[in-house]
Amino acid sequence: MELINALNWRYATKKMNGQTVPQDKVNTILEAAHLAPTSSGLQPFEIIVVTNAELKEKIKPIAFEQTQITDCSHLLIFAAWDNYTPERINEVFTRTTTERGVPADSMDDYKNRLISRFGSRTAEQNFAHAARQAYIGFGIALAAAAELKVDATPMEGFDNAALDELLNLKEKGLRSVTLLPLGYRDAENDWLVNLKKVRTPKARFITEIK
Ligand SMILES: Cc1cc2nc3c(=O)[nH]c(=O)nc-3n(C[C@H](O)[C@H](O)[C@H](O)COP(=O)(O)O)c2cc1C
Repeated sequence: MELINALNWRYATKKMNGQTVPQDKVNTILEAAHLAPTSSGLQPFEIIVVTNAELKEKIKPIAFEQTQITDCSHLLIFAAWDNYTPERINEVFTRTTTERGVPADSMDDYKNRLISRFGSRTAEQNFAHAARQAYIGFGIALAAAAELKVDATPMEGFDNAALDELLNLKEKGLRSVTLLPLGYRDAENDWLVNLKKVRTPKARFITEIK
């Protein structure tokens, strides 16, 4: 299967060579994340694409000086909703009923249950839920990049609050979750490139209940 070959090819690239990923490939990676399934279809996250060199230089110390931040060509920032609000939920359902051409109130029962469920939880709980949805898109983007032979480093190693401040994410009702620098491996200088991919033995990872 092509996907398995691609997942074996990819690795969490530690050193990138500065080469630019063609825009059509970046667009495909973004489209894959856009098509990710999310709980109730709410898509409670956004992706910020940074190509600006000065901004990447500012982000690097926030990401503990990881060089992929500046050596990548496109830095994807996955940012989740800081909370679920009735406005945000209503917008999703208005779009869904409009685009499907069904009566505007046809999903009201379901929608109102969601508004009530999220309304009974704290903003922090709701953000944690939204962040989990962002991880689904993040994983699919990572797999899409691998299929296109684009290198990427999945990253949680950064100061989320400092990045949110730098990008004014609070004003947009967002909080950063993960980073995904896209670029190409510098095979001669990357200590990880030739090391074996190590995973938990499948017998321990998978339990079959027949
Ligand atoms: C959510 C997440 C966060 C990660 N954060 C970082 C990071 O900040 N920096 C880094 O170099 N690698 C990071 N990694 C890479 C992991 O260490 C790596 O995926 C794991 O060791 C498996 O290796 P492989 O991706 O090369 O197969 C992260 C991976 C994931 C999935």
